[in-house]
Amino acid sequence: MRLLLLNGPNLNLLGQREPELYGSATLESIEADLKKLSLAEGVGFECFQSNFEGALIERIHKSVDQVEGILINAGAYTHTSIALRDALLATKIPYVEVHLSNISARESYRHHSYLADKAVGLVSGFGVISYRLAFEGLLAYLRQKR
Ligand code: DQA
Repeated sequence: MRLLLLNGPNLNLLGQREPELYGSATLESIEADLKKLSLAEGVGFECFQSNFEGALIERIHKSVDQVEGILINAGAYTHTSIALRDALLATKIPYVEVHLSNISARESYRHHSYLADKAVGLVSGFGVISYRLAFEGLLAYLRQKR
């Protein structure tokens, strides 16, 4: 089994970006943490971050028959991108939506997600732990499905 972690715009700045909201961990450390988890679980794991919507979409397209599940923090594209939603639905790859912050407790324009209703699940508000919870949830879901 192989999983993909996708991170969208501005998440490359984690660690320095609004630490009161997003914490002090860097994206590299989050990726390394999940890499370790995936080794322990015996699953393949790859990571991709982009600030460009089209690059994220192309990575999703390329993942068909390559990965069985996707963890996605689409950043602000969560609230704007029908194209990202369409790409995920087109490939039919099960995905879990991840957010460091609790998007429902923030500005009203962050309350709506274009990805949430088709996701296996959504983890939001636990800081870096959101990624771990999402990883474990996705893995449990995929193993149960097999
Ligand atoms: C975020 C929440 C989004 O609203 C925001 O645009 C981000 C980060 C989060 O992880 O909490 O870039 O996805």
